[in-house]
Amino acid sequence: MNSASTRDDAGHSRQLAYSVQPVSAVRGTHTVPGDKSISHRALMLAGIAQGRTTVRGFLESEDCLATLGAMRALGVRVNRPAAQTVVVEGAGLHGLKGSAGPLDLGNSGTAMRLFTGLLAGQAFDCELIGDSSLMRRPMERVAGPLRQMGARIETSAGRPPVRISGGSVLRAIRYELPIASAQVKSALLLAGLYASGTTVLAEPAVTRDHSERMLQSFGVRLRVEARTLELEPPQQLRACDLEVPGDFSSAAFFIVAGCLAADGVLTLRNVGVNSSRIGLLQALRLMGAEIRVVNERSAGAEPVADLEIERRELRGAIIPPELVPLGIDEFPVLFVAAACARGETLVTGAGELRVKESDRIATMAEGLRTLGVRTEVLADGMRIEGGALGGGRIDSRGDHRIAMAFSVASVRAQQPIEIADVGNVATSFPGFVEVARGAGLDIQVHEV
Ligand code: S3P
Repeated sequence: MNSASTRDDAGHSRQLAYSVQPVSAVRGTHTVPGDKSISHRALMLAGIAQGRTTVRGFLESEDCLATLGAMRALGVRVNRPAAQTVVVEGAGLHGLKGSAGPLDLGNSGTAMRLFTGLLAGQAFDCELIGDSSLMRRPMERVAGPLRQMGARIETSAGRPPVRISGGSVLRAIRYELPIASAQVKSALLLAGLYASGTTVLAEPAVTRDHSERMLQSFGVRLRVEARTLELEPPQQLRACDLEVPGDFSSAAFFIVAGCLAADGVLTLRNVGVNSSRIGLLQALRLMGAEIRVVNERSAGAEPVADLEIERRELRGAIIPPELVPLGIDEFPVLFVAAACARGETLVTGAGELRVKESDRIATMAEGLRTLGVRTEVLADGMRIEGGALGGGRIDSRGDHRIAMAFSVASVRAQQPIEIADVGNVATSFPGFVEVARGAGLDIQVHEV
């Protein structure tokens, strides 16, 4: 099953769980670790650039470390001279080397989709694998258009392992993405670096644009107009230093905790506020939240700010489907906000939640019902009737964002919440428990 486990001295596998006690307030000033999407992209682009790239604020989470290990296996020298700092000696656009064995990308869908694009045009064969959750996730969404570019890629009934044959000659395509997915877009842009001709991509909706911004920082000619992108294959990428802002998707848990229970003002410092990422702010504001974006500045090509959050009584809302791709990873915690709001909240157009690290519609509905919340599960979303939260035992199904979302529920729960299978929190947010305790949550971690 999809679970992160540790092993004891006798070699028995053990799972981590959280015991979370109800608390009535959160407070203070906090920072969250670096952005996961940007950290993956930084390693990949720096690895194929010419020259040395220093990345500061790098997210040292299991997902990003899987990408780091894969880049090393492909022959790129990566040093870690200090915490959250990586120095990448770029191998050049054609400098990657075949790895001795399969590249194991752990739990990371982003790593697998982006590597499929990056490796589609290389001279060597490679195989991509991952943990039991990743091995169930759909890969044809990237393999299909990459084949149209001339790549030779096999999946196993649409899922990993992904096997890529080396030596394909790629040609640029014009492609309309059928789903709003930054991972698919980014995979095709990475393949486009190796294709002859101009790659033209049209998105059905705006999705996170970190790849576009970073490619431009590395000197790649990429035009973006409305939702159409045109990429010219470069001779080389030019190394450049990068600063990774705090991950809005990690901040999201404390944004919602603050909306529900801030004692005074809860402040989050140095959070990435790229407009393609902050759909949660818009959704919460529709529900009556008070969130101020202050001290706006930039970290290289990315906008950064501090967030000030006050407690408000939230009211249910119809969440506009356009916000879904702008906040796709924040829906688990938005569902918790909705469960604590007055009245009904309706989320639709969010079918992509079903193919994340878990089926996030089913997993959240099951957990909310355990806490006594009335929900109606829809094919592409959920209807949630806000009210009082009880307690109980939740199965996160090995999904990091489910585990963290239900931890936040403890600011309104009337009884303790036990959350099983939480080891994967380390895939995106190492140190979550420490930041959460600093803000006032009462979480104990134990092995079961
Ligand atoms: C990501 C894109 C999103 C998101 C994922 C990270 C990225 O996935 O859910 O956590 O870094 O490009 P999709 O592109 O599949 O929506």
